[in-house]
Amino acid sequence: MEKKFKRTLITTALPYANGPVHIGHLAGVYVPADIYARYLRMKGEEVLMIGGSDEHGVPITIKARKEGVTPQDIVDRYHKIIKESFEEFGISFDIYSRTSSKIHHQMASDFFRKLYDKGEFIEKVSQQYYDEEAQQFLADRYITGTCPHCHNERAYGDQCEACGTSLNATDLINPKSAISGSQPVLRDTKHWYLPLDKWEPYLREWILEGHKEWRSNVYGQCKSWIDMGLQPRAVSRDLDWGVPVPVEGADGKVLYVWFDAPIGYISNTKELLPDTWERWWKDPETKMIHFIGKDNIVFHCIVFPAMLKAEGSYNLPENVPANEFLNLEGDKISTSRNWAVWLHEYLRDFEGKQDVLRYVLTANAPETKDNDFTWRDFQARNNNELVAILGNFINRSIVLTHKYFDGKVPAAGEFTDYDRETIAEMVNVKSNIEGYLDNYRFRDAQKEAMNLARIGNKYLADTEPWKLAKTDMERVATILNIALQISANLAIAFEPFLPFSSAKLRSLLGMSECRWEELGSTQLLATGTQLSPAELLFEKIEDAAIEAQLQRLEDTKKANMLNEYKANPIRENIEFDDFMKLDIRVGKVLECTKVPKADKLLQFRIDDGLGGRTIVSGIAKHYAPEDLVGKNVCFVANLAPRKLRGIESQGMILSAEDADGRLVVITPADEVRPGSEVK
Ligand code: 2FM
Ligand code: ZN
Repeated sequence: MEKKFKRTLITTALPYANGPVHIGHLAGVYVPADIYARYLRMKGEEVLMIGGSDEHGVPITIKARKEGVTPQDIVDRYHKIIKESFEEFGISFDIYSRTSSKIHHQMASDFFRKLYDKGEFIEKVSQQYYDEEAQQFLADRYITGTCPHCHNERAYGDQCEACGTSLNATDLINPKSAISGSQPVLRDTKHWYLPLDKWEPYLREWILEGHKEWRSNVYGQCKSWIDMGLQPRAVSRDLDWGVPVPVEGADGKVLYVWFDAPIGYISNTKELLPDTWERWWKDPETKMIHFIGKDNIVFHCIVFPAMLKAEGSYNLPENVPANEFLNLEGDKISTSRNWAVWLHEYLRDFEGKQDVLRYVLTANAPETKDNDFTWRDFQARNNNELVAILGNFINRSIVLTHKYFDGKVPAAGEFTDYDRETIAEMVNVKSNIEGYLDNYRFRDAQKEAMNLARIGNKYLADTEPWKLAKTDMERVATILNIALQISANLAIAFEPFLPFSSAKLRSLLGMSECRWEELGSTQLLATGTQLSPAELLFEKIEDAAIEAQLQRLEDTKKANMLNEYKANPIRENIEFDDFMKLDIRVGKVLECTKVPKADKLLQFRIDDGLGGRTIVSGIAKHYAPEDLVGKNVCFVANLAPRKLRGIESQGMILSAEDADGRLVVITPADEVRPGSEVK
């Protein structure tokens, strides 16, 4: 049986304060959370929506170092920009705070201390690289060196992207600090670990048995983590930026950013409600929902719940409706490559059009799979849906009322069967939207709201009140009354999705209240209510505005390509003889399988025209093995054989790699016999 709750605590992932926020953030987390919060508030439920900036972690310190400022300077700058963007988009946080605050440091510190005192951590000493010049320990990503397996010179401390092997920083040959360029030295360091393995049976039962209703992407990720076996996780780091580890002898150590960040939800609740915050976190009648993106699933479904269980007095989340990713014009959104639509820039270019973006992002919400934002779709949805359906219907209803009834809501006479059918459809819309919103299906819910505008448009088109004006004013009054009631219903139905337009619509219609339970009513506007003069809710977006955006992206692409060439210049010229040393051939893939325990490697059997050869290639992240069987590929046939994971690889399959690290296998344009030379 479904559990009944008294109140809902909505948390939204705390964005890192090391850059502004973009459409991916909005679509993935904040718009859906805001829709949900507004919906519950309109229903009169007790709701709290918590947000804030995540202000710790290594990348912030790196950025500060690069710019020659302090980490606090960095987070002050971006916290302000992010907070303003959210306000401008109407994201209705009850509090938007930050993890560099005193109250958060205290809360996170106390939380750690409680677990420490209860003996919930394991202490372990390990050796880690230390940069003597920069005087700091190095996170794995900040160490580069030569891969011991394939001798790629640009391997990272956690993995080699060339051959796909997972590495420990200490495996690297010739390690170098990415901070100072110096050679780091190994030093002993002690850290605290949360033994996730201890909580595995609990998590397995709680999620895999208890929450089968979670979105399949969320449930599936949890299942695969749990099935792989959970390991103790370090919850501290050697760093001088963060919440100091509150234990004697822990100088120079802070809590790992992923330990303190989710506690930020608690601190921010306490900051807002110093006296009653515990009710929101510990009373089992509070329902907690985490809104996050898919890269945060493990932290919110496994790590944070284990922390809360270890503490002992907190509730666990009831649901975690994580979204997949939103791409931009077919490419992954990337901060470093400036491949994004930044919210503060959008507002500069499309002043006052917050709702348009909210609408488009919800219409394309990446709820079940990655989705794409394109400017052409943005324009089409604005022009063909917001303007042509919603705006048009409301405008016609108001204009006609001004024309025939001096802008006063006319009294309805007797309803026809068709009127009654239309009203019944309107009533249905309410339960449909509710069904979707209650299940975190925001996209379908918004579609249903738009459906109500379609119902309205059709009603006016079918009844044609403008034709009846000479003969039957009573009928015209009824029709317009119904059209205006539908308009008022639209103000309610769209309030969670398009809060700015809904407010404008309410003011046009002289509506003071906006309660969810009134959705479906034909009595929202009293007879005689004076409407404001008609005003357009949405305006057409012209081609020029879209082309300007596309041009900007085109320019970004060009600039990125130039940067790539700079970082990766064309190598020195070679003589023809050198080129001829390279023997590239065409081969047909006969078999392709995953290499066990190497998440990036695929093992190929290739028909090389001579009976076949084995090649191991690091492209498992980019292809499912079965997709490559039967394909013609190009391979270097005279590369000296080498062993990868104990398998002798006799050559190398050629692929192209773009700046995002996406690999595409090179195949000949036409069918050609295996063994043919590539020249
Ligand atoms: O992925 C991120 O952007 C993290 N800053 C999210 C943190 S969510 C929560 F735990 F605070
Ligand atoms: Zn390698």
